[in-house]
Amino acid sequence: MTQPLQFFGYKNGKLSSDGIPLDEIARLVGTPAYVYSAEAFLSPLRVIQKGLESVDHLVCFAVKANSNVAILKMLADAGAGADLVSGGELFRAETAQVPGNRIVFSGVGKTPVEMEKALSYANQGIFSFNVESVAELAVLSGVAVRMGKKAPVALRFNPDVDAKTHPYISTGLKKNKFGMDRKEILTVAKSVAKYPGVDFRGISIHIGSQLLSLSPLGDAFSRTADLVRELNRTLPSPLSHLDLGGGVGITYKNEKSPSLKKYCALILKHFGPKSKSPFRGKIVLEPGRTLSGNSGVLLTEVLYRKERKSKDFIVVDAAMNDLMRPALYGSYHEIIPVKKASGKSKKADIVGPVCESSDCFGQDRKLPAQLGSGDLLAVLSAGAYGFSMAGTYNSRPRPAEVLIEGGAVRVIRKRETYEDLVRGESV
Ligand code: LLP
Repeated sequence: MTQPLQFFGYKNGKLSSDGIPLDEIARLVGTPAYVYSAEAFLSPLRVIQKGLESVDHLVCFAVKANSNVAILKMLADAGAGADLVSGGELFRAETAQVPGNRIVFSGVGKTPVEMEKALSYANQGIFSFNVESVAELAVLSGVAVRMGKKAPVALRFNPDVDAKTHPYISTGLKKNKFGMDRKEILTVAKSVAKYPGVDFRGISIHIGSQLLSLSPLGDAFSRTADLVRELNRTLPSPLSHLDLGGGVGITYKNEKSPSLKKYCALILKHFGPKSKSPFRGKIVLEPGRTLSGNSGVLLTEVLYRKERKSKDFIVVDAAMNDLMRPALYGSYHEIIPVKKASGKSKKADIVGPVCESSDCFGQDRKLPAQLGSGDLLAVLSAGAYGFSMAGTYNSRPRPAEVLIEGGAVRVIRKRETYEDLVRGESV
């Protein structure tokens, strides 16, 4: 369970992390800026690594949640790998020197060029391709044969369970585009000889993101355990790994998110040494939000306060292009002042400068009535799917990213410039 204010808190009246007040960061790099806490990433990673220490396991951070190479390198140094979904993410992993034997490649639409790049990643290839369709398997096999290699493969099983999360991020139902059903997978297992370029080693699943209950995961694990039992009877050698997909949800507001200890216990119940499952290989996980969601905030400055009778509008210098989640999913992010305030509060909508009414980070939020031009706000829980989903709509350069690590501040991505905006264009 990670909380918005576990690694950020008020110190001497100022929102700080690891002893660094965030107004100092605003002075250093300007606003808007993403500010991350290294410890906030590493602490849940350690909990998972400890929780699964009784089994062979690999934690592959879902790069789509936060793709900065400094973050990937930091996590790799702490023993994690990477879960990728594109050639661009593969390039990032290589730049961050993530070892190939800790990389899984997911996604429904891998291209032959991406497959080639992954097969020759750092001259050694990757740990596994999570293949999502029979058509993809045939193409991957062809690419590998042409290169004189064998592609390590896990087939992505769609267990048809409802993850009970936002429909846009629910992926484990039959109606979703993801994975293959049990029948398809068993058919492939009976005809592995048709795919000479692949080495069928595992099964992967991922039923959705921001899961607030463990019970859909439990159902998915049971169905996966049944499938594995059947596959081990069919295949020439037993499966050597199981990839159980993304992590559990986090607390954005006051929702109770699953504890990581219980999550690990659930995994062990189904696949651990004392479980009934015949599976005794490596357990792979692909958490994104669990490690990064509450590890970052979006720091923004108030430009204007538009006063109204019932509620004000607080116009800030960050916008929906910087953090899309509220506009795209209607998602909630806590918004708090960097300078702790006492005194009267007043309801306000916190809005950005983009010309759309959906450019709103929060509605009817109680904030200090005094808060005005030049004051700083922090949009919390912005470490996952924040910068990685940012764009340049309204020709707004993307924000700087800063990492607080061991009481020191490191700029891990410079703010984009206007020149960056037009790079590659010609008049
Ligand atoms: N593995 C696969 C195959 C995935 O598709 C995802 C997320 C993950 C792992 C990581 O899931 P997590 O541990 O973060 O729950 N943009 C949305 C979230 C999209 C998630 C897509 N897939 C948001 O901002 O909520």
